[in-house]
Amino acid sequence: MTAKAKLLSDYQAPDFTIDQIELTIELDAENTKVTSTLRVQRQGKHDRPLILDGEQLQLQSLHIDGQAVPQQQYHQTDSTLTISDIGDELTVDIVVTINPAANTSLEGLYLSDGAFCTQCEAEGFRKITYYLDRPDVLARFTTKIIGDVEQFPFMLSNGNQIAKQQLADGRTAVTWQDPFPKPCYLFALVAGDFDLLEDSFTTMSGRDVCLQLFVDKGNLDRADYAMESLKNSMAWDEKVYGLEYDLDIYMVVAVDFFNMGAMENKGLNVFNSKYVLANPSSATDQDFNGIESVIGHEYFHNWTGNRVTCRDWFQLSLKEGLTVFRDQCFSEDMTGSAVNRIDDVAIIRSHQFAEDAGPMAHPIRPQSVIEMNNFYTVTVYNKGAEVIRMMHTLLGADGFRRGMDLYFERHDGQAVTCDDFVAAMEDANSFDLSHFKTWYQQAGTPEVTVTDHYDADSQTYTLEFSQQTPATADQADKKATHVPLRLGLYDSDGAALPLNTDSPLTDGNVYSLITDTDTLVFNGVASHPTPALLKGFSAPIKLSYDYSDEQLLTLSQHCDDGFTRWDAMQTLLARYIWGIADGVINEVPTQVIAGLVAISQNQHIDDALKARLLQLPTVNGLLNQREQIDIHALLDALETIRQQVAPALHQTCTSLYSELQQSQYSLDAASIAKRSLSASCLSWIAEANGQQADQLCQSLYDSSDNMTEQLNALTIANRFDLPCRSSLMDQFEQRWQDDGLVMDKWLNLQGCWNSEQCFDNLKTVEAKPFFKLTNPNRARSLIAGFAAMNYRYFHAEDGSGYQWLSQKIQNLNSINPQIAARLINPLTQWRKFTAPQSIQMKACLEQIYQLKDLSKDLHEIVGKSLE
Ligand code: ARG
Ligand code: ZN
Repeated sequence: MTAKAKLLSDYQAPDFTIDQIELTIELDAENTKVTSTLRVQRQGKHDRPLILDGEQLQLQSLHIDGQAVPQQQYHQTDSTLTISDIGDELTVDIVVTINPAANTSLEGLYLSDGAFCTQCEAEGFRKITYYLDRPDVLARFTTKIIGDVEQFPFMLSNGNQIAKQQLADGRTAVTWQDPFPKPCYLFALVAGDFDLLEDSFTTMSGRDVCLQLFVDKGNLDRADYAMESLKNSMAWDEKVYGLEYDLDIYMVVAVDFFNMGAMENKGLNVFNSKYVLANPSSATDQDFNGIESVIGHEYFHNWTGNRVTCRDWFQLSLKEGLTVFRDQCFSEDMTGSAVNRIDDVAIIRSHQFAEDAGPMAHPIRPQSVIEMNNFYTVTVYNKGAEVIRMMHTLLGADGFRRGMDLYFERHDGQAVTCDDFVAAMEDANSFDLSHFKTWYQQAGTPEVTVTDHYDADSQTYTLEFSQQTPATADQADKKATHVPLRLGLYDSDGAALPLNTDSPLTDGNVYSLITDTDTLVFNGVASHPTPALLKGFSAPIKLSYDYSDEQLLTLSQHCDDGFTRWDAMQTLLARYIWGIADGVINEVPTQVIAGLVAISQNQHIDDALKARLLQLPTVNGLLNQREQIDIHALLDALETIRQQVAPALHQTCTSLYSELQQSQYSLDAASIAKRSLSASCLSWIAEANGQQADQLCQSLYDSSDNMTEQLNALTIANRFDLPCRSSLMDQFEQRWQDDGLVMDKWLNLQGCWNSEQCFDNLKTVEAKPFFKLTNPNRARSLIAGFAAMNYRYFHAEDGSGYQWLSQKIQNLNSINPQIAARLINPLTQWRKFTAPQSIQMKACLEQIYQLKDLSKDLHEIVGKSLE
């Protein structure tokens, strides 16, 4: 398969536009008939033909202005329908048939457990009918759905329902109209039988909005949290941005078969049921968090995405980076906790840094794309959100709000670019962001190195900065960028010092590093301070400064910034993990262990932060700190450090663990924090004393009434392969085998089971009736559990782990290319590892590359990995 890359630099405005579309969709599992009437207008003066996008469609008829189009006037390929010799304004009638039952790609119109649903972003609408499938063509949609009302009591589309008729043949026709012009990627249709949770929200201008949440039959007891989160999101967007919802109805449908998290279709969000369904007995604290953030995310898209959309798909971060930033702020405001920031940073460091350093490296605004679905990445989303956050940092909350107001004032109803967004921020604040825009142009993680010098005589403290961005797979030469560094200086007791400098610092002590190197001098500093150089992770960079162990311990104990405390402890621990892995040292110094013990005993640290402070750096995070890694030496070093630290923490963790037990389950932040710290303690106990942990896990599992604690028990039993593991796993399976969403947790644990039996076990698990490769949640839970979390056996010496993954990828290639392209990620990192791992991984990629029917998705990713 040879697919050509599209380039951002080749963007051209559309030759034609469509301002109105009437759709009639006659539902049938194998033979759905789609009739569309398009009002088409030529744009500008030219005589080029009309080229519509379309894939896997059976064309039944084609009319222009009521006349059948003769064969010689149109031409079809696999992906287009070209109509020539047409006027400047025309009405095109198209009838096609499609086969939703055969659509396992879950893109376009497909069936999820008997319900019809759609996923059109990015380019799925072309699998429903011929159209100008690009985000800068905005039309008013009227959609008539025809089906059997017994089978499909709910037939839904965007906007308002304007008609419902009983047809002579017994079928029912329901018509929806969306008053807002939109690109076709925001189109949605759902038909099925659901349970319905209804509520309402009164907007700030006093309009009542009907809120409807559709879930699979029997799941109403799991819908409340999503509804609460939706109402909180609506109120938050009014309060923080003055943005009000604009239709009278907002619908959310939860489906079991869904490639991603959720989709912001106008007025009719379609969600992966994972991000809707939860109650305390079936979902963990983390699941509840995920629901709050994804419900928020899709709701916030109504303004940042739908009212103002993207001109082309290279601009995806315009809506995604901004909307992730908004959902992160929303979650921070809801929980009021510093650990949200730590968890967001952990994603950047463990996943985004890897992407930036790997074969798929791309700027948050990519310049070249083969398959757009491959660019819904942690770079576009999460690094994109960091870029927005940096603007927020530089402009302050009020300045950022002024920029947002101007953005909507200028661009409501339009399809625009990232440049338009930045221009609104600049113009609203008279702030020059031209240099800052390198963040949109360059891939790669900037590395900032800081050295310092203290002069006792003049009481001055000097920081010298230098920045450098390593070459990435897509770009060799890099320019200096604009890096906002939030600074702090601390004395030896960890008390914050005032910052006196002649250089300009913006609000909150933010210093802008703009050039390759720069110097900053502080006056009136009484003794050599300890600097904090990246408070709150004010830029998505790697920062290095040669801290002493003592300085890191002081920061971790006392710094007024939660992120900096965590970062200091992670830096300190990573130092000794690498030392052991390299064979330079055998032992962690006692003062480091004492530091961890002091943290565990410090009563002034809140539980949530303490839980993070007591965690070792993750393998993924460590992998991004070095090149050419001997993975087994690294895993051994992690084990060594755990064994050395655990005895010292054992006693405190044991008593903390028992103090943290709660008699009543509650979902407030303090209770969540207790559960999280108690899990950290339990894992240190397990490291120190397996027998004690076995009893604790068993009794926690038996006595607890909530999934968070039960899964904590199971996770630790699984990780340490405790004697209770197998009976707990069996009990869990007995209890939940009919509940796919809950079984995902079990599948994930099976995937990451660190045991010599893991390959035989995988075979058994794959044969279970609840495991289906066609269901993305099931496939992801098991496959990513193994390939992205079971480091020991994925990287087994004989290459069997790579081959297992490779086999799954080959199966998924034909079932669901998008999911295959995501799950292959661990193999694409082959260059990170020393031989023999690197060689074996590469051989698997080469084998996949030879597949006859290799999808465009995999072709792009595997091809780049082998370049
Ligand atoms: N816009 C959706 C969201 O961010 C995600 C759509 C993903 N689509 C895809 N083809 N990968 O909420
Ligand atoms: Zn989004």
